[in-house]
Amino acid sequence: MDKTDRILIVGAGLFGLATARQLASEGHQNITVIDRHVPDGSSVDISRVIRFDYADDVYLGMALDAYQKWSISPKYKDIFFPSPFILSANSIGSLGRSYINKCTASLTERGLPWKVLEDAKAAKELYPSLTGTLAEPNFVGYTNTQAGWVDSSKAISQLRDDCLELGVSFISGSAGTAVKFEDKDGQIWAVRTFAGTLIEGEHFILAAGAWASSIVPFYGSVLATAQVVGYMRLTDAELERYRELPISINFSTGWFNFPPHQESKLLKMAIHGWGYTRSPEPEEKATIKADVSMPPLKAPRERANFVPKDGENRLKEGLREILPELADRPFERTAVCWYTDTPSGDFIMDFHPDYKNLMVAGGGSGHAFKFLPVLGEYVTLRMKGLLPESLANKWRLRKDYQNGSNLFGGDGSRGGPERQNLFSDEIKPRL
Ligand SMILES: Cc1cc2nc3c(=O)[nH]c(=O)nc-3n(C[C@H](O)[C@H](O)[C@H](O)COP(=O)(O)OP(=O)(O)OC[C@H]3O[C@@H](n4cnc5c(N)ncnc54)[C@H](O)[C@@H]3O)c2cc1C
Ligand SMILES: *[C@@H]1O[C@H](CO)[C@@H](O)[C@H](O)[C@H]1NC(C)=O
Ligand SMILES: *[C@@H]1O[C@H](CO)[C@@H](O)[C@H](O)[C@H]1NC(C)=O
Ligand SMILES: *[C@@H]1O[C@H](CO)[C@@H](O)[C@H](O)[C@H]1NC(C)=O
Repeated sequence: MDKTDRILIVGAGLFGLATARQLASEGHQNITVIDRHVPDGSSVDISRVIRFDYADDVYLGMALDAYQKWSISPKYKDIFFPSPFILSANSIGSLGRSYINKCTASLTERGLPWKVLEDAKAAKELYPSLTGTLAEPNFVGYTNTQAGWVDSSKAISQLRDDCLELGVSFISGSAGTAVKFEDKDGQIWAVRTFAGTLIEGEHFILAAGAWASSIVPFYGSVLATAQVVGYMRLTDAELERYRELPISINFSTGWFNFPPHQESKLLKMAIHGWGYTRSPEPEEKATIKADVSMPPLKAPRERANFVPKDGENRLKEGLREILPELADRPFERTAVCWYTDTPSGDFIMDFHPDYKNLMVAGGGSGHAFKFLPVLGEYVTLRMKGLLPESLANKWRLRKDYQNGSNLFGGDGSRGGPERQNLFSDEIKPRL
């Protein structure tokens, strides 16, 4: 790759921007990032959990590196907020329990500290703001004090500003929305946009998150799933009372919470679960010529204030387990946020099998945000063929899933009921 080659990145979310910043900082001079809105997508929200508790040692090591950057670098001073983290599950026969055992084994192997919570009482003694029963008696869990959360909107805006400062160009609106790639014998020469323009280049990177599989074929290796999120308004007195509320996740249900977001005065909770798929509407199918689960093609900038009823109930029931006094308060806002799931929960950083000069960066599987400080390096190493073989293999775009169905078992961290399909009137595409 020459430093003056034109590099075109589709998608200004976490993967696209992290890659753009890294390439620009390595001296690449002609980088353009396109998106409908800048920023937009799954990376934008008030918060994301930062943890290095992973069953998989590769992600544990990367997340530890990222955690150190989040927590030490002055750059993230008003973006990263340290907080203890409780990881729990039902002790009886759940996948969640086995994920927890693997996490603690991996932490121990690396000599990293964690503390077992013998029962719900131990958790409540340590963190008195927890008032619920934590669904005793079948509690199993531990706490890691080296964790936190980031204001993800701010983190993404800062990443975009870093890119601007390094000379990266942006195109937004319909002239920044990719429709398809134009190629000659598998070599892409331009991306065609909604506005009808062609943006030419030598290297292309597809980082369109949950929308990526509606632009090029992914051979069954990704699945866009909607996950539910709820935001509850707190009073000033409650903001104080819950200031020290730890982050907690219940791997049996997938339910997790953040400490109060002091600026917006919102208490946020979500479910790291199997989620919901969505079939494209006929008009969308005509545009994308594919039949894959996808978010609405023309989503408005503001996320719809909606989650399926059963999702809302699960958000409430999870809250009842830790803070029953708030569980009957209506949400100020609910929303679905899109995961780009892969069958194993591994990311994708690979050249697309149909195009020689198209790098695919994504497959975040609901856990990529924490890697923001380090992610770009891995993508650019892959582009240059310098990524260690084991990682290149882990993150390859696999064609071997193409004839399978429902292989999306993930990394063992998901909880709650089976994946469902959204009815078309539940999330209306706005075409
Ligand atoms: C509810 C929820 C909670 C999460 N919690 C955590 C967490 O606690 N910790 C953690 O580490 N991770 C978490 N994640 C995961 C993390 O946010 C994602 O893995 C990450 O943001 C994905 O980034 P991306 O760049 O792949 O996608 P996105 O951020 O969605 O970026 C894709 C971009 O492509 C653009 N785009 C789409 N189509 C086109 C097109 N045709 N032309 C041009 N541009 C296009 C979109 O507008 C978007 O801006 C969570 C995700 C969700 C949804
Ligand atoms: C990028 O390449 C285009 C096409 O060759 C050229 O017009 C433009 O000036 C280049 N930009 C930079 C910053 O080099
Ligand atoms: C997690 O959910 C399971 C199933 O509802 C429950 O048995 C367990 O005790 C919950 N843990 C906490 C901390 O709420
Ligand atoms: C999937 O099925 C198609 C059509 O039968 C076949 O050509 C292809 O080799 C199969 N792929 C795999 C990975 O089994």
